Amino acid sequence: GLELNEDGTPSNASVTTRFNILVIDLNDNVPEFNSSEYVVSITELAQVGFALPLFIQAQDKDEGTNSMFEINLVGNNSNHFIISPTSVQGKADIRVRVAVPLDFEVLSHYEFSLFANETASDHVGFATVRIDLINENDNRPIFSQLLYNVSLFENATVGMTVLSVS
Ligand SMILES: *[C@@H]1O[C@H](CO)[C@@H](O)[C@H](O)[C@H]1NC(C)=O
Ligand SMILES: *[C@@H]1O[C@H](CO)[C@@H](O)[C@H](O)[C@H]1NC(C)=O
Ligand SMILES: *[C@@H]1O[C@H](CO)[C@@H](O)[C@H](O)[C@H]1NC(C)=O
Ligand SMILES: *[C@@H]1O[C@H](CO)[C@@H](O)[C@H](O)[C@H]1NC(C)=O
Ligand SMILES: *[C@@H]1O[C@H](CO)[C@@H](O)[C@H](O)[C@H]1NC(C)=O
Ligand SMILES: *[C@@H]1O[C@H](CO)[C@@H](O)[C@H](O)[C@H]1NC(C)=O
Repeated sequence: GLELNEDGTPSNASVTTRFNILVIDLNDNVPEFNSSEYVVSITELAQVGFALPLFIQAQDKDEGTNSMFEINLVGNNSNHFIISPTSVQGKADIRVRVAVPLDFEVLSHYEFSLFANETASDHVGFATVRIDLINENDNRPIFSQLLYNVSLFENATVGMTVLSVS
């Protein structure tokens, strides 16, 4: 309370006390990616293990175990790529690598969802990953048959069509 002097005016007397305030981290931050969408084009000849130039960073601003989360790549054919790390505490750069030989002629475009989730079910971060393959001249010309066996009369004349191949 306010100290009063005898005449009723506020006294200048003061009291000093020391407090230790302990701030406890609440798990109030959701893991987040540093972009909502990551897009890249890579050659279809990219080797297994090739790290795509996608600069993905994921972060949960909480402290300690409150900042732990998991990363998942979800979508059709997402097994063609592998992400690491899949378990993060705090902040991490996420790498996406080629997991199987790719082929533009089979599949030229991928679209995935990237999730960062905590045990708290509503703490989910989300981003889109789009990968386009660049077609390379990787197909050698081939003949329709391995062997063409043609019989001719011996009176065949110059310029006569013997065989057409594709
Ligand atoms: C309280 O402090 C003020 C300003 O320093 C001073 O003018 C006044 O005389 C003081 N009062 C008492 C009761 O010490
Ligand atoms: C996300 O973070 C990575 C790694 O720090 C950085 O290279 C990239 O430019 C960032 N992307 C955006 C959209 O800020
Ligand atoms: C998944 O991709 C394959 C090609 O690898 C395609 O045949 C199939 O229709 C796709 N499924 C969906 C649900 O898009
Ligand atoms: C994240 O979600 C996946 C798939 O739904 C689940 O298996 C995993 O346990 C979740 N991670 C955490 C930390 O809850
Ligand atoms: C080509 O055809 C002839 C006649 O039909 C046959 O006798 C010959 O064995 C064949 N040659 C080959 C390599 O198949
Ligand atoms: C070549 O000989 C065959 C068989 O004797 C005959 O049927 C054909 O007409 C001849 N062709 C030419 C261009 O003379």
